[in-house]
Amino acid sequence: MITLRNIERSFDYGREKNPVLRGVNLDIEEGDFITIMGPSGSGKSTLLHIVGMHDSTWAGEYYFYDQAVHKLKPKERAELRNKNIGFVFQSYHLLDQMTVQENLEVPLSYRNYGRAEREQLVNETLERFQLTDKRKQYPSRLSGGLQQLIGVARAMIARPKLILADEPTGNLHSAQAREIMEMFVKLNAQGTTIVQVTHSEENAAYSRHIIRLFDGRIVGETD
Ligand SMILES: Nc1ncnc2c1ncn2[C@@H]1O[C@H](COP(=O)(O)OP(=O)(O)OP(=O)(O)O)[C@@H](O)[C@H]1O
Ligand SMILES: [Mg+2]
Repeated sequence: MITLRNIERSFDYGREKNPVLRGVNLDIEEGDFITIMGPSGSGKSTLLHIVGMHDSTWAGEYYFYDQAVHKLKPKERAELRNKNIGFVFQSYHLLDQMTVQENLEVPLSYRNYGRAEREQLVNETLERFQLTDKRKQYPSRLSGGLQQLIGVARAMIARPKLILADEPTGNLHSAQAREIMEMFVKLNAQGTTIVQVTHSEENAAYSRHIIRLFDGRIVGETD
């Protein structure tokens, strides 16, 4: 599904180069459930944002099925992303001028859902995440845990082929975290490919295998 070849990313400060990813090669099969682990600063979020097609200032080759992402124009890349990928941001990234319900409608707006179907998906999702009574509220008024739940709900509502989740349970109680992991397992069993970043071994245990990142390099892979 995804092939990354020799991905390099650095953040430059004036003349100083700060290499963050140093030649990452990675293959992600359709139907996989992968965890990326590694110390803080090792480049996990940077890598996930590249896979998520948010970032384009990197070198190397990225194939999404047969599409060469490194050759796409920004608009084409955005379209590919919006149609295929759900992203859970480490810092939520909800739209604060929109209500909870409106945030959930955003990913649906990129697909050809009819109005009734859209409403049904929103209602089902609100219920599944126990957010029904929060639907008219603005995310910035809610707790970090609730914002995280909304972020996860938004990433999965449109049934994307690929879910990328950056520390999706960092602000949740352990019971909520388990629920999210069980949702991921269920979605994965139904064919959704999942890549999560986490510091939690407990969360990692839900995935099929673990990739370890250190100083911008993949240093190990375990089943
Ligand atoms: N927008 C940016 N501008 C400058 N430097 C950045 C930027 N984003 C990341 N970096 C740097 O890249 C390195 C890797 O950051 P990244 O966020 O990918 O780490 P991480 O593995 O996700 O860490 P954490 O576990 O703390 O989330 C860090 O040294 C960070 O300072
Ligand atoms: Mg990170």
